[in-house]
Amino acid sequence: MNSILILGGTTEGYALAEALSGSTTPGRSTALGRLNADISDRRLVSKPNRAPPAAHRQAWPPGQPSQPGQPGQSMQPSQPMQPSQPMQPSQPMQPSQPIQPSQPMQPTPRALDPARWRVISSLAGRTSCPRLPAGETRIGGFGGVAGLVDYLREQRIAAVIDATHPFAATMGWHAAEACQALRLPLLRLERPAWQPEPGDRWHPVTDWNSACETLQELGARRVLLALGRQDLQPFVDLTAVHFLIRCVSPLEPLPAFVNAELLLARGPFDLASERALLDAHRIDAIVCKNSGGEATAAKLIAAREREIPVLIRQRPPRPALPSCADVSSAGDWLAQVLEAEQ
Ligand SMILES: NC(=O)c1ccc[n+]([C@@H]2O[C@H](COP(=O)([O-])OP(=O)(O)OC[C@H]3O[C@@H](n4cnc5c(N)ncnc54)[C@H](OP(=O)(O)O)[C@@H]3O)[C@@H](O)[C@H]2O)c1
Repeated sequence: MNSILILGGTTEGYALAEALSGSTTPGRSTALGRLNADISDRRLVSKPNRAPPAAHRQAWPPGQPSQPGQPGQSMQPSQPMQPSQPMQPSQPMQPSQPIQPSQPMQPTPRALDPARWRVISSLAGRTSCPRLPAGETRIGGFGGVAGLVDYLREQRIAAVIDATHPFAATMGWHAAEACQALRLPLLRLERPAWQPEPGDRWHPVTDWNSACETLQELGARRVLLALGRQDLQPFVDLTAVHFLIRCVSPLEPLPAFVNAELLLARGPFDLASERALLDAHRIDAIVCKNSGGEATAAKLIAAREREIPVLIRQRPPRPALPSCADVSSAGDWLAQVLEAEQ
């Protein structure tokens, strides 16, 4: 049986997997996926698939919980590599509705015939308990371009959709090289970047060191870092700044910030809660990535209203590929590709 491979655990990738497999149930992991998961993150195979609570705080430094909505406390020089304490349930950041009026409904791609096609999603394995997409799932790196070429052959992949996160810098290039080597059709499915609007005080940056310099130039004192946990280290040296760090999952080890508070929260975030957050913490600058999408856009509106500068990281370069921004168009592309192959 031939297969379709969807790369990445994005909303768009999940929606496409669901449509193509005609199923909303969590998929099963392939044997290779289980093996790779075991190598990359042993917790993946032993824990049930459950989402963490929407929001909670991680004591920082360990043993010193801060009060929700209060200005952060001055921190002692932190002790790197301390295990974190159990989380405190928190009040302010509840999951909420998207802030923008929804886009017009796009037609959902038709499901593929399960007797003829497998729909396989591939996750990198960075999240310890990922929600599994519909269809089959494999987890963990392929082993570079060569490993991906082998995988594409072994699994009889007929087409690949790169739906990785806009800031996943490598996987798209590997997919392009591997698909070119095998002459496989490859589509980039990516949500559009946010665009600045009148009143925005955006400072586009291409790396985090530039963001640190800009924060200093602006004289920022209380900064919301709405970044992935892998992106925090460059900000550690800004000891005059108090950071409110919003992440999805706990940080282990805690980066060595001297003046920071951690808020564990998973979007979507609505406008009211973003306004409340910025006000309660007296935020005077935001650092984030131009991820796009509705789920985390409310902070930009709240910042505009308050004339707060937003240091926004631009997306990394991508290979020149056919691309689309919505699942419906991806379905159309796939239908054409499969028809042409018959
Ligand atoms: N929320 C965010 O802001 C954010 C930002 C970046 C990334 N992410 C997500 O985090 C994951 C990894 O990010 P990254 O920055 O490490 O990506 P990356 O730089 O594009 O990829 C690094 C390596 O991770 C493996 N990998 C990445 N995506 C994979 C996938 N879908 N399936 C299998 N292997 C994959 C590949 O390893 P091999 O070379 O061994 O195949 C790849 O070479 C991705 O799922 C991405 O969507 C989220």
